[in-house]
Formats: sequence, C-alpha cells, structure tokens
Amino acid sequence: MAWYDWVRTVEVEPSLYAADFSRLGEQIDHLLNAGARVFHFDIGDGHFVEPVTIGPIVLRSISRHVHERGGVLDCHLMVDNPERHFKQIADAGGDSVTFHVEVSEDPAATAALAREFDLRVGIAFNPETSVDEAVAASDGVDLVLCMSIHPGYSGQTFLPESIDRIAELRERVAASVYVQVDGGVTNDNVAAIHRAGAELIVAGSAIFEREDLPRAYQRLVRALG
Ligand code: DX5
Ligand code: ZN
Repeated sequence: MAWYDWVRTVEVEPSLYAADFSRLGEQIDHLLNAGARVFHFDIGDGHFVEPVTIGPIVLRSISRHVHERGGVLDCHLMVDNPERHFKQIADAGGDSVTFHVEVSEDPAATAALAREFDLRVGIAFNPETSVDEAVAASDGVDLVLCMSIHPGYSGQTFLPESIDRIAELRERVAASVYVQVDGGVTNDNVAAIHRAGAELIVAGSAIFEREDLPRAYQRLVRALG
C-alpha cells in the first residue's frame, strides 16, 4: 500500500510510546474501533535520546493484528545509525521509518536504503535544527517530521514557535510530502497545528493519559475543525 493510501486528508496518530504496555493490544483495538488507522511507534536507543524505549520485538507482537485491521505502523527512529535497524523493523512489520537529519550525513542514501526494505521514509528534525536543513533533505521522502518538543519523552509541553516552523515547512516542501508534527499535541492546539499545514499529527499523552481512549482520540479528530 502506498503512503498516500494511508492518509485520509489528515491523521491523528496515537503514539504507542504513551500506552499502557500491560494492555497494549486491547488499547490498540479500542483505537482501531474508534477510527484510528496510523499508529506512531517510537524507537529510542538511549544515545540519540536519553531513554531506551520500544523496538522491533514489541513491533512484531502487534503488527500482524494492526495490518489485518487495516492499520499501519509509522516508526519514528530516535536513534543514532538508524540504517542499522531498517531490516529488523521491516521484518517485524513496520511500514515506515522516519530518521533524524541530525544523525544522517547523507539523508538521500539513508532513505534509499530504507526503500530497499520496502519501507516508506520520513525525515525528522529537532527544535534546534533549521527548517532549511529539513527542506534540503526532503527530496523524495514521504514525510517530514517537525518535532514540537525535544524528543525523548511523552507528556512534554508543545513549543509554541513550532507553529511558524510547520507553516514554513509546509510552504517549502513538495506538496506530495506530508508534514508531520510530534510532541505536546492537545485538544487546544491541534486545530492550529493542522491549520499551519500538518497532515499527520501525533498524540501520545493526549490520548493515553485519558480514561476513555476512543473518546480522547475522537475529541482530537473533532477539534481539528
Ligand atoms: C517523544 C516521542 C513522541 C511522544 C509524544 O519524543 O517522539 O512521539 O510519544 O508524546 P506526547 O504527545 O505526549 O508529547
Ligand atoms: Zn515520536
């Protein structure tokens, strides 16, 4: 399936990093029932970001079920040497890999390697990295991820300057490239993020820190306007 088939104009992507891992399958099911289709999966290595998060073993345990129900797994690699992980992620059922420009000397070559494993490709950039750098690396990728927090943990506060960065990014990357935003998304800022130009909007704590996950997901979708 091509990446553009995954996205219905705009997608709110539940970030599984914020899930309750003792009930992961059940929580995913509730969100699929509520209409979620693209799930965000954060792989952190304890080097590029402070925490070690989740990886291919967890991915493997959920991917078949997610795919059977028409969902996809969008993997955000908060790691050094991202290319080392592509094969394992592809084998475990990941659908895309988004790696950080900060760790890639040659993003086009890194992207080409991911394509060899039939993965969709994204590039991510941190709040201290210029939009210029992201635009320069965006040729031929499926998405560009504008981090609206410093990567590492769920539950941080959205950096307000991200709105202008999203708008500039949307203006400057090709129309065929999706703009994704990750970090600090809430019911109160999701509409502004979408209006600025984001089509893929990741939400961790705004969904999983709520009692009723389907309701939290649907509230975000409704708040898009
Ligand atoms: C953290 C991850 C995010 C995280 C978002 O660096 O990349 O995907 O789960 O969580 P919230 O939405 O709570 O900021
Ligand atoms: Zn993420």
